[in-house]
Amino acid sequence: MSFLHQRTQVNLLSDPYPINPHNLFQNYQRPTSILNKTTLLILLSLILILGFFSPYKSISQTLLSSSKDSNSKWRRYTLDQAVSFVAKNGTVIVCAVSEPYLPFLNNWLISIARQKHEEKVLVIAEDYATLYKVNKRWPGHAVLIPPVPDAQTAHKFGSQVGFFNFTSRRPHHLLSIVELGYNVMYNDVDMVWLADPFPYLQGNHDVYFTDDMAAVKPIDHSHDLPPPGKKGRPYICSCMIFLCPTSGAKLVLKKWIEELQLQPWSKAQKANDQPAFNWALLKTKEQVDLYLLPQAAFPTGGLYFRNKTWVKETKGKHVIIHNNYILGFEKKIKRFRDYGFWLVDDHADESPLGRL
Ligand SMILES: *[C@@H]1O[C@H](CO)[C@@H](O)[C@H](O)[C@H]1NC(C)=O
Ligand SMILES: *[C@@H]1O[C@H](CO)[C@@H](O)[C@H](O)[C@H]1NC(C)=O
Ligand SMILES: *[C@@H]1O[C@H](CO)[C@@H](O)[C@H](O)[C@H]1NC(C)=O
Repeated sequence: MSFLHQRTQVNLLSDPYPINPHNLFQNYQRPTSILNKTTLLILLSLILILGFFSPYKSISQTLLSSSKDSNSKWRRYTLDQAVSFVAKNGTVIVCAVSEPYLPFLNNWLISIARQKHEEKVLVIAEDYATLYKVNKRWPGHAVLIPPVPDAQTAHKFGSQVGFFNFTSRRPHHLLSIVELGYNVMYNDVDMVWLADPFPYLQGNHDVYFTDDMAAVKPIDHSHDLPPPGKKGRPYICSCMIFLCPTSGAKLVLKKWIEELQLQPWSKAQKANDQPAFNWALLKTKEQVDLYLLPQAAFPTGGLYFRNKTWVKETKGKHVIIHNNYILGFEKKIKRFRDYGFWLVDDHADESPLGRL
């Protein structure tokens, strides 16, 4: 979750539209207010230069206006349209990404393409730059669900409050998709697929998830919700969730949203939506068919990256690896590189987005 928190901070610091043509124009106009010999000379040479380059200017204007047309088309693209476009066999795979995390998105996508499931991927864009970039390279595979998280408001209240609001959108998105009648798999993009997870999602349960606890479990462990830990609730990861369009799954999502509203963000409590997800699971477990996925196939990063003995013992069983239990964008990339999981350097051609 620290990964997600950092994502918001990075996003706040980066200007999504560094080159605004209107600002440039205003800057050029300013000298006219001080009409002296030098400014007149500069203006004259500017007019000459602009006149000389006018054929190029009109070409760039044409390009700009056509990309504006397609951008406004993607602004109107709804979740309903997007899901019915990407879903295969009634199933969609979603992630939520803001612009600084596009390299992680691409890495995750390459690993999914290797399992031949990339066609079902829908990127929930958390900013317009991501929406336009993904759809330009891979039309129809990104959607933005308004309202867009307001970076300026979040900044004003401190990025942790902004982060809380940002993650509380996730159960809403998942509920919308399930209510449209689709199966949905959610992944954080700091994950990498080593094998096809779908064979593990059989059996008509309502909700499938993974444990974020690093303690080693027996290979034949129970698939029930683990018992509550020290905080009175389990430690299930909200990083990888598979939901079926059943009343049980809808109940969990509604409870998750309710729990987020019941426990508004506080500094002491650390801002993320994982505790609320766990309270929701614990409180609905009698009414819902929950299914804990096998640890050997879906280990937390706290186990996979920290226990070489365990990795050796469970060799060949790993399906999705989560790059968590580590702080920092660069450290995550380095760790993936060290394990040969940073695929974007040499295998970008395998991504539906190509090299970013
Ligand atoms: C859809 O499901 C069928 C039957 O389970 C399977 O053979 C097929 O490969 C699936 N198609 C996709 C695109 O996943
Ligand atoms: C977070 O969401 C609440 C409820 O929707 C809203 O009142 C508040 O202004 C939001 N805070 C920030 C920082 O976006
Ligand atoms: C590491 O994995 C081994 C093999 O599964 C296990 O016996 C050991 O307890 C684990 N170590 C820790 C610190 O969890």
